[in-house]
This record gives sequence, structure tokens and C-alpha cells, in this order.
Amino acid sequence: MKKVAILGSTGSIGCSALDIIEKNPERFQIVALAAGKNIKLLKEQIEKFQPKQVAVSSKDNVYKLRETLTAKSKVKIFHGEEGIKKIASYSSADIVVSAISGAAGLLPTLAAIEAGKDVALANKETLVLAGEIVTKRAVKKGVKIIPVDSEHSAIFQCLEGKKKENLRRIILTASGGPFLDFTKSELKKVSLSQTLRHPRWKMGKKVTIDSASLMNKGLEMIEAKWLFNLDFSAIDVMVHPQSIVHSMVEFNDGAFLAQIGVPDMKIPIAYALTYPERIVNDVTPLNLLKVQKLEFYKPDIKKFPCLNIARDAGICGGTAPAVLNAADEVAVNAFIQKKICFADLAKIIEKVLNVHDVVCNPSLNDILQADSWARTETEKIIERMVR
Ligand SMILES: NC(=O)c1ccc[n+]([C@@H]2O[C@H](COP(=O)([O-])OP(=O)(O)OC[C@H]3O[C@@H](n4cnc5c(N)ncnc54)[C@H](OP(=O)(O)O)[C@@H]3O)[C@@H](O)[C@H]2O)c1
Repeated sequence: MKKVAILGSTGSIGCSALDIIEKNPERFQIVALAAGKNIKLLKEQIEKFQPKQVAVSSKDNVYKLRETLTAKSKVKIFHGEEGIKKIASYSSADIVVSAISGAAGLLPTLAAIEAGKDVALANKETLVLAGEIVTKRAVKKGVKIIPVDSEHSAIFQCLEGKKKENLRRIILTASGGPFLDFTKSELKKVSLSQTLRHPRWKMGKKVTIDSASLMNKGLEMIEAKWLFNLDFSAIDVMVHPQSIVHSMVEFNDGAFLAQIGVPDMKIPIAYALTYPERIVNDVTPLNLLKVQKLEFYKPDIKKFPCLNIARDAGICGGTAPAVLNAADEVAVNAFIQKKICFADLAKIIEKVLNVHDVVCNPSLNDILQADSWARTETEKIIERMVR
């Protein structure tokens, strides 16, 4: 029986992970959950899975949760960053699903690693911000970081048992999002609801908007660099609208391996939870005869500049990826609040990166400071734009 803690249990990945766990009661037990502010859903999860400990983002949410739970509920409730770190390092857990969205996932994920827990990693921001620190700590602690992101899970599966020196490159595939066929001028007019209508994947708002701008693929390049210890010259991106090939690797003898399947996050989540085993699931089987064609295109970086902005920040390294991520989080939030338009995202993020003094070989503290600086700087830029 594997004991599981989920950080971000009320989100898209968290709910899919719980669905897998509910259907496999002989394999998994939920021991701890952490969420932000969706108290109604967290209460339902507590009643169904009976975790020993939970955490929510604030003290107010502790009161709200207490009010909704029955008096006999024995669940321990923590709050804030320290509370979420407690859930991440809970002694009873064997594996921690890291599925909080954004930079808020970094410190809890590091806490899980410090506590010697294997991590099923969905929170790509952990590696974008602090890939070097996190991967070194994982090696030192002897814990596994198993990717949940479908592209990285695909690469992870293709590389299993292979020699790193035989690898020529990896190719991350991108659906291209809802605006693949839009012109540059059409992109200036897209609405929030259009942006949130992803053609293939059902995900949280932030990652859906990042998918539409291709920022998500840029963040994934940085994530892949750290997960697989690669130079950016060995990481390529191809647009593949069908989202059947989840990613590929090319070896130096010219052989390619690809991992394919229907676009359903339950496949990589289940694999991360059961690795190296596989379990039967209820995902609709892939019917290639129905899919018929698999297309691949070069990404259009003129239309989707975020991809190269992210890649350049990754190549620059130091605190640049943390600044990229923070600027993107603030800009995406402003887009959700309809303060800025879709085409502003790239311009704002680039402006912030241009005025940042990069710290090389940063400490965790340098990274957190850069994150905080970038948030303030991005807000100032947005204020000036909307004035
Ligand atoms: N969704 C996908 O298919 C997918 C695929 C690949 C990778 N990922 C990655 O997985 C991560 C999660 O994505 P998602 O789509 O599941 O996001 P989501 O649906 O927006 O869910 C985010 C989760 O994080 C919680 N949360 C946010 N801020 C928090 C904070 N400060 N403290 C505690 N909890 C907090 C939310 O809680 P409340 O809702 O209760 O506030 C929610 O449970 C992201 O890093 C994303 O890039 C997602």
C-alpha cells in the first residue's frame, strides 16, 4: 500500500490523481492533502479519503473548513506556507504529488525532498525556478522525481534503460493551443474565454493560458533541461496538433522512440504514482485508425514569442528563469482580470527580463528575492500600461 500526500488536491491534476487513487484502494491510501481556498471541494475530499492531515492557504480558510466539517472529524488542519510544507514532509507519506500551480509549489516540493519523499512532479515551476538546487538535493537525499507533465513523462518512459551518451536530442511536442491557425493581427483581439478553450487538454487556467501563448512549452524546455540533465541544444519543440505523440527522443544511430496515447493526464499521473509498474485504467483506448494523421510543424515564434523568451531565459540561467516565471504569473493574472490583452503577455515579460540583473549560481534566497522583485516590477509595468 503506497501512502500518498497531494499538494494541490483541489486542482485539475490533484482531482485526477484522487480519481486514480479512489479506483485503486488496494494500492493507495491518502494520508495528507493540501489545497488553497476551495474549501467546499476539500471538505468533500476529506470526507471521502479520510486524510490524517490537511493544509489550506490561510488561517481564514482553516476556520471555514472547521465550520463545514463534523465535530467528530479528527483531521489536523494546518495553514499557510509552513502548513503546506508540513503536509509535504508528513512522515507517513511515501510519495508526494506536487500539483500546486505556480511558484507557490517550490518550497513545499523542496520540503518533500528534504524529508526523503519521492515526488510525482506536476509543478514544473519547481524546476524552472530552482532546477539545479532541487535536482542536486534529490540526488543527495536519494529520492526520485518522477515527471507528471505528459511530455516529460513521455521522455522519461522513452529513456528508461537507455544510455544517456546515445541520446542525440529530445523533442517536446506542443498541441499549438487554440490559436494555432490565427494570424498575428487576429491574436491581438482574442478574448479570455477563447484562450481558455484548449482544443485537447482540460487543465487549470494558468497552464491553459500558457499553452495558448506557448509559454508553457518554454517552461517545459527548462523543466526538461533539469529533469534529464540536457543542454538546450538537445531540446527541440514541434507543434503536433493531434496531441497523440506526447514527446519523442532521437538516438545517435538515427532511431526515434515516441510515447503515444490519448491526451489524458490520468496516464502520466498513474505512471508517476506506480512507477515502474503500470496499472489498468479507465482511459479511452487510442484508436490510431480513427486519428488517421499525425502532423508536425515548426513552432511559429513570430506569432508566439513566449517560446523563445522562455528558452533564452533558460539558456541565460541564474535568476532569469525565476523572473520569467514570476512575470508570467503576474501578467497571466492581469489577463484573467481583463486588464491587459493576450498579445501584451510576451511584451510585459520581455520588459521585466530586460531590466533584471541576473544573479549567477543563485542561492535559494537569491531565487526567492528575484521572484519577489519580478512580481513588483511586472505590476508596475502593467499599472503604467493600463493608466
Ligand atoms: N492540469 C494539467 O493537465 C497539467 C498538465 C501538466 C502540468 N501541470 C502543472 O501542474 C500544476 C497544477 O496545474 P493544475 O492545472 O492542476 O492547476 P489548477 O487546476 O489551477 O490547481 C492548482 C491547485 O493548487 C492549489 N493552490 C494554488 N495556490 C496555492 C497556494 N498558495 N497554497 C496552496 N495551494 C495552492 C489550488 O488550490 P485551490 O483551488 O483550493 O485554491 C489547486 O488545488 C501546474 O504547475 C501545471 O503547470 C498541469
